[in-house]
Amino acid sequence: MNHFLDLHKTDAAALRAIIDDAIAMKKARAGRPRGAPDDEQPLAGRMVALIFEKPSTRTRVSFDVGARQMGGQTMVLSGSDMQLGHGETIADTARVLSRYVDMIMIRTFEEATLLEMAEHATVPVINGLTNRTHPCQIMADVMTYEEHRGPIAGRKVVWSGDGNNVCASFLHGAGQFGFDFTFTGPPALDPEPEFVEFARSKGVKVEIERDPLKAVEGADLVVTDTWVSMHDAQSARERRHKLLRPYQVNERLMAAARPDALFMHCLPAHRDEEATSAVMDGPQSVIFDEAENRLHAQKAIMRWCLEG
Ligand code: CP
Ligand code: NVA
Repeated sequence: MNHFLDLHKTDAAALRAIIDDAIAMKKARAGRPRGAPDDEQPLAGRMVALIFEKPSTRTRVSFDVGARQMGGQTMVLSGSDMQLGHGETIADTARVLSRYVDMIMIRTFEEATLLEMAEHATVPVINGLTNRTHPCQIMADVMTYEEHRGPIAGRKVVWSGDGNNVCASFLHGAGQFGFDFTFTGPPALDPEPEFVEFARSKGVKVEIERDPLKAVEGADLVVTDTWVSMHDAQSARERRHKLLRPYQVNERLMAAARPDALFMHCLPAHRDEEATSAVMDGPQSVIFDEAENRLHAQKAIMRWCLEG
């Protein structure tokens, strides 16, 4: 049985195979209505639980639609309606759910919740975002980059803004897919050293550059994310905005990257804060392809989990 917990915990060959499978599955159903089944039904007879302790649009809908296209059934559960962690231990919830469903996707706050769920579940567990990482997003992003520009290995990715959970999974992705990664942001919001060290241990170049204009020189891909994540205290909003304003992705910043550089944002975005609408809606932006590819990438992830 395969869990999909983080990109550094799944070997690079398996991650590559998942991306290739996602691209093939996307092609195989091109032009079909969203609700039409795939020719192959690897989730036939399978029940998937989608648990959310935080809000979600993309993750919720893409996992649900993807599982159904592959013949599975789904139930979307809100953490606050369950006994999860307050009426019952995570371990017991994992054991109970494993008697009813064939796979669990969970979006939660603490990484420990995800890990406890995976340790005690007897069915595959997928990380749908924690405070620390968001691996499914980076699978979709790598797929999107490669669809537009070919292999991501050896390319330069620049993250401008908060060194948050999505940034952390990008660092795992750098190590596993072999691309260089530059972080540009204020020192107070640097990614955790553990993520930087993982990427470096795989031999890719990781740089921290405080000047955003210098950082994007030679960039093939520029990425950002919200300045205040779901787990961040709202009281920190003003301070974060002040620290992060110099790292906004705008036309001036994009002009300093390679002319064929792409722009990505996992969404939801706060328009004209972390990225301007001119960039988000501009010719280099692939943000809605990223959103679509969550669906295809996660279908390949679910299939891989069950094949294990
Ligand atoms: N990018 C992403 O995970 O979006 P949602 O929060 O809408 O799921
Ligand atoms: N960093 C954001 C990502 C949302 C998909 C958050 O955690 O809120």
